[in-house]
Amino acid sequence: MNKDILIKTVARLVSPPKGILAIDESLPTCNKRFENLGVPTTEEKRREYRELLITAPEIEKYISGYILFDETIKQSAKNGENFTSILRAKGIEIGIKVDQGTVDFLLHLGERITKGLDGLSERLQEYKNAGATFAKWRAIYTIGENIPSRDCMKENAVSLAKYAFMCQELDIVPIIEPEILMDGGHSIEECYKITAQNFDILFSKLQDLRVFIPGVILKTSMVIPGKEAKIRVSSEKIAEMTIKCLKEHASKDIGGIVFLSGGQSDKEATLNLNAMHQIPELSWPLTFSYGRAIQNEALQSWAQNPNDISGAQTFLVERAKANSLASVGEYKK
Ligand code: 13P
Repeated sequence: MNKDILIKTVARLVSPPKGILAIDESLPTCNKRFENLGVPTTEEKRREYRELLITAPEIEKYISGYILFDETIKQSAKNGENFTSILRAKGIEIGIKVDQGTVDFLLHLGERITKGLDGLSERLQEYKNAGATFAKWRAIYTIGENIPSRDCMKENAVSLAKYAFMCQELDIVPIIEPEILMDGGHSIEECYKITAQNFDILFSKLQDLRVFIPGVILKTSMVIPGKEAKIRVSSEKIAEMTIKCLKEHASKDIGGIVFLSGGQSDKEATLNLNAMHQIPELSWPLTFSYGRAIQNEALQSWAQNPNDISGAQTFLVERAKANSLASVGEYKK
């Protein structure tokens, strides 16, 4: 493990005013989004869509890294140029989703654990050869009656720690993504409690496995009420509780913290990040790593007018720019 390489990669990924764009939807997820908009679910259509995202003009002003899916890292633009070469030429870091989705957690109804450790070292080496400098592994937790359990949190934390260790052995920066899902009617206080508990377990497992914390990026959900919660709260409240939770339960040494959008509206995701940057003395670089909240409008536009590539790219770059401003607290409604 070369700590210097890891620290430098982290710094490039989270340096203001940039954030990370997640375009690593798995085949089922990408196909579901296409289907909802009447787009054929073929490999060529997925390639075409990702080409639009990767070649968006000047997006490198706002985006430091793209997280790709296995299919995408091997694909090329219509003119034959590899996606990875296009990104590198723009100075954008190449990231790769390496988990292989979730499965039911045995004897724990309603809980999921993430798989993908088998053969992971070999796959990481392949991705490194293809130019990847960082990776992502996502674990998910549903808030419900008596869930998530500590067992589920521990099981996922061990996998996240093993994955992070394997990445760092190859000088690849691991993004660790524990996502508390927004599904359900839970309050912001319930979300706080679960997020805090989960961070405590996660960081203790990372320490047990001697993961190099300054060479890790934490990608987390915000502390936020469930989608069906009766009581809605302001961006200021979400920001305040999220930062409090991170300050009290995440490691001070973590290289950087980024957020997923998790089903928030595009505007909410931007406003919430902007509100966090009104709070003084954040202890770490803090930015976005959104998927939907940056892609939504571009995808809808392209689905309606597949020939208007530049129209869709304009939507994408506008959302990237808004979040870039939010990442330094300068977004104005
Ligand atoms: P969303 O911003 O759409 O939640 O996606 C981010 C991500 O990488 C999920 O794993």
